[in-house]
Amino acid sequence: MIIAQITDTHISLDDARGEARIRDLEACVKDLNALQPQPDIVIHTGDIVHNGERAEYDCAAGLLRQINAPLHVIPGNRDNRAELRRAFADITGLAEGDDFIQFKIALPGLNLIALDSTTDTTNKGLLCAERLAFLDHALGEDPDTPALLFMHHAPVDIVDAIDPFQFISRDNADEIAEIIAKNPQAKALICGHSHRAATAKLGDLPVSTAPSVASNLRQGPLRNEAEGVPVYEIHEVGVDGGIRTVVRVGDR
Ligand SMILES: [Fe+2]
Repeated sequence: MIIAQITDTHISLDDARGEARIRDLEACVKDLNALQPQPDIVIHTGDIVHNGERAEYDCAAGLLRQINAPLHVIPGNRDNRAELRRAFADITGLAEGDDFIQFKIALPGLNLIALDSTTDTTNKGLLCAERLAFLDHALGEDPDTPALLFMHHAPVDIVDAIDPFQFISRDNADEIAEIIAKNPQAKALICGHSHRAATAKLGDLPVSTAPSVASNLRQGPLRNEAEGVPVYEIHEVGVDGGIRTVVRVGDR
């Protein structure tokens, strides 16, 4: 099972930086479609656009719908749920609306659980009681099948980041960790938001963040990669749910 993760495309339409981000995403789409073997799924882990505007989503969706593999999306703090749902309704199966974007995909021998960590009041991550209950149920109803979790914000410290802890509180991260601790079939938590490739642990659970597709917002070791170089992550999942992650840096 191959899962390609793109994140933090931050599509914007109003300046030269936005034009560069469109070229970065175009390069990723081209690179994804040339991968051999093809990914089983592509997931965008949020901050699809920069200002939450309809025209930005129309632009982003127009590019993302060119991906040949099945696409799924979750929101980041820069996203607008209603606009995201509207723009992606036909290619992701998300219905229109403005409620939390959370879902479970049952693949053969592997569950993917997508969580919505965004709020209207802060750019930090939060899983409220309703969202924690969704996670608890999604894992608890299938304890024997390995599961991967996806969410924009990582509820852990990202070493070397300017503000390493990007969740609303340690207590909320602990609430997530308590659910994970009851569910050893959860094999990894895959995130965006940090704009850099990083790894950490939440209890025993491996947590990763991927570099931003947007080259002019990228942090970490790949921050000097040129505009138009496709940068994203590929997660290879074994039959036991074990995961091997590779940072993909394609050709310009
Ligand atoms: Fe971002």
